[in-house]
Amino acid sequence: MADGKVYIFDTTLRDGEQVPGCKLNTKEKVELALQLEDLGVDIIEAGFPISSPGDFESVSQIAGIVKNATVCGLTRAVQKDIEVAAEALKGAARPRIHTGIGTSDYHIKSKFNSTQEDILQRAVQCVKWAKNFVDDVEFYAEDAGRTDNEYLARVVEAVIAAGATVVNIPDTTGYCLPHQYGEKIAYLINNVPNVDKAILSCHCHNDLGLATANSIAGVIAGARQIECTINGLGERAGNTSLEEVAMIIKQHQPELGFYTNIKASQLNPMSRIVSDIMRMPVQPNKAIVGSNAFSHSSGIHQDGFLKNAQTYEIIAPEEVGADSSKIVLTARSGRSALAYRFQKLGFEFLRNDVDVLYNEFLRVADSKKEVEDNDLAVMAKAYQASASAV
Ligand code: KIV
Ligand code: ZN
Repeated sequence: MADGKVYIFDTTLRDGEQVPGCKLNTKEKVELALQLEDLGVDIIEAGFPISSPGDFESVSQIAGIVKNATVCGLTRAVQKDIEVAAEALKGAARPRIHTGIGTSDYHIKSKFNSTQEDILQRAVQCVKWAKNFVDDVEFYAEDAGRTDNEYLARVVEAVIAAGATVVNIPDTTGYCLPHQYGEKIAYLINNVPNVDKAILSCHCHNDLGLATANSIAGVIAGARQIECTINGLGERAGNTSLEEVAMIIKQHQPELGFYTNIKASQLNPMSRIVSDIMRMPVQPNKAIVGSNAFSHSSGIHQDGFLKNAQTYEIIAPEEVGADSSKIVLTARSGRSALAYRFQKLGFEFLRNDVDVLYNEFLRVADSKKEVEDNDLAVMAKAYQASASAV
């Protein structure tokens, strides 16, 4: 596959919004859609139009206002769903219908009480219905992660023949290991004769914390679209994090040869906007956008970081729009960090002074979680007063 462009399909407004407590109204969805477009995502999954009149309205308004990104609406493999989605998307410059059906035995037998042949026919049928309304039709094979590869290949071949432009291979339950998900994509690339007529897409859930790793394995194996959300929000343990895949692809561009259109410097501001609007805090140790992503607290790390930031940082915080790196003072911190923080407060101490102050620092640090600027100022002034009294 020649082109290294990886399409970023953002589903914060659909899979992300399914998180309990994260429901958005139309105004909030439109605001986020415009921010996502500005961030550089290629496709915005705006909602599930048949699910409620409010979501229909949201998809419809987003379709009318977003100009560069593709606007996508989700449906089941049901004719009415597809008609409603087409109606909601009719004002879009680039509309896409995302339709599909479960293909694993769990779905075929337990959910639909059906057979593989019947599901294959329904898959083809829903793509054909959607093609009556839009050119760009994405098919999802729900629970592809647990679907037998041979059957999955037959479904993928049939939906591409029916006109699907993108075929989504969701690891709906977050079950796969990265090498298994990569092998699944490779199997499809090697065994579906018309696979070159469509883009394969990775839609990975994070039930085992592998969503990002699986998506990257999928792209390495030949997929060219990643479905992801800001802050990794999504059903249950969430979806692949947009900020993580965007930065993995950027960091490893030389050896992988992939790129996205994401503006990295907007990742932290975007994460905060989504966290605020959805009232869903970001875990402090979250990669790229967590409040500790650029904090250094142990003495060994601080010393190395202060000599050369790259010793302990593979990304500069400015590159992803985060606040400057922080030297946090705890009882695990060292003298270099203490001297650095005194200096930032305007206290220039010699090495001998820092050695003396360090004992007092440890006494304070052992009594609390973090030593703050006001603790340092008290220490520094007391030390200066005792020194001038001698
Ligand atoms: O996880 C999943 O399988 C989905 C589909 C509806 C694409 O969200
Ligand atoms: Zn999903």
